[in-house]
Amino acid sequence: MTTYQVTLEPLNESFECGEEETVLEAALRHGYNLVHGCREGRCTACKSFLAEGYVDLKPYSTFALSTSEEEEGFTLLCRAVPESDIVVELLDYDPEDYRLENPVIEAAGRVAAIEPLTHDITLLTLETDGDHFLFQAGQYVDLAVPGGEETRSYSMANLPGSGTLEFIVKRYPGGVFSGLLDGKLAVGDPLSFAGPYGNCVLKHQPSESGCLLIAGGSGMAPMLSLLRAIVETGAPTRPVTFFYGGRALRDLFYLEQIEELGSRLERFEFVPVLSQPGDADVWGGERGFIHEAVDRNLRRPSAPSAAEQRIYMAGPQVMIDATVELLTQVHDVDADRIAYDTFG
Ligand SMILES: Cc1cc2nc3c(=O)[nH]c(=O)nc-3n(C[C@H](O)[C@H](O)[C@H](O)COP(=O)(O)OP(=O)(O)OC[C@H]3O[C@@H](n4cnc5c(N)ncnc54)[C@H](O)[C@@H]3O)c2cc1C
Ligand code: FES
Repeated sequence: MTTYQVTLEPLNESFECGEEETVLEAALRHGYNLVHGCREGRCTACKSFLAEGYVDLKPYSTFALSTSEEEEGFTLLCRAVPESDIVVELLDYDPEDYRLENPVIEAAGRVAAIEPLTHDITLLTLETDGDHFLFQAGQYVDLAVPGGEETRSYSMANLPGSGTLEFIVKRYPGGVFSGLLDGKLAVGDPLSFAGPYGNCVLKHQPSESGCLLIAGGSGMAPMLSLLRAIVETGAPTRPVTFFYGGRALRDLFYLEQIEELGSRLERFEFVPVLSQPGDADVWGGERGFIHEAVDRNLRRPSAPSAAEQRIYMAGPQVMIDATVELLTQVHDVDADRIAYDTFG
């Protein structure tokens, strides 16, 4: 097999990249925490400068890399497959934090349980083979669709160390992966996966007063994992506000578990929000879209300033876009304090 050497500047560190492997895949496998987002050439997060050598680019969006940028030498590390030894100039990296806590590996497991949580959300529990698979709360894996080449990303809802991975999966009728949960996947079936991926992990700084966890639908998974991590290992004295958005009453789940976890923190508030008019009208709690509830909450005189908090989010694109805009443009939150995964 042909391999090429990738050198990362200004870190002056090198690793081998396999045939048909992208630079980002090889970097994650070798434990380098290179900045990335979609891993599909859509978001620009991994854009870098190709200082030496040649790459072939897998399909990407010209929004992420324009033709003129490519001609100038810019590249997308998630799409770039080396065709020679290369030198990459990183445009965005943290000199204090460029090694992954857990390198990305390929692993296998078996379905341990499939349980309904709501009318369209299922808890899928996977028992991992061999040594316990290590990850940080808030991260995700790519599950391989059985019998095919495709993968789908799912965030762990539990904490590492138990030998199981818990996924909260929204079922889409006919969905390549989630559709299997309508009776086509059974307890005992093998499932392979790769990971852990993702930067939506706890990053509290001593100067920060607390955090907001904001989840829409199955975005509950990584936020629940983060809440569990804050309760078990984090900073139980800092205030935590957990927003959960659904359409109707039948979309709410894990209410008791969240209240129980919150009762172990000194200052915790759980804010479920419903958007569908019928149910929202009889609902005693918050109504509207989740970013509206976040806004109302932050405007209360007693609320800690959003600008001093760390903010974590997961859910549909439209929810993430509206909430990021609200936080950065109305509540002066520095974008660096917001970490999110978009499930689109
Ligand atoms: C970083 C990351 C983490 C994720 N974590 C989770 C998680 O914890 N739980 C979870 O349920 N999902 C999660 N997702 C989404 C997940 O990876 C799949 O995209 C989703 O489950 C649909 O896959 P599918 O194969 O079932 O459907 P597909 O076969 O891909 O699509 C089937 C149909 O469903 C529609 N559809 C697919 N996704 C969406 C969507 N998000 N909104 C509206 N319509 C959609 C498609 O338009 C299509 O018509 C995550 C995604 C990312 C990028
Ligand atoms: S990670 Fe999104 S473009 Fe590369």
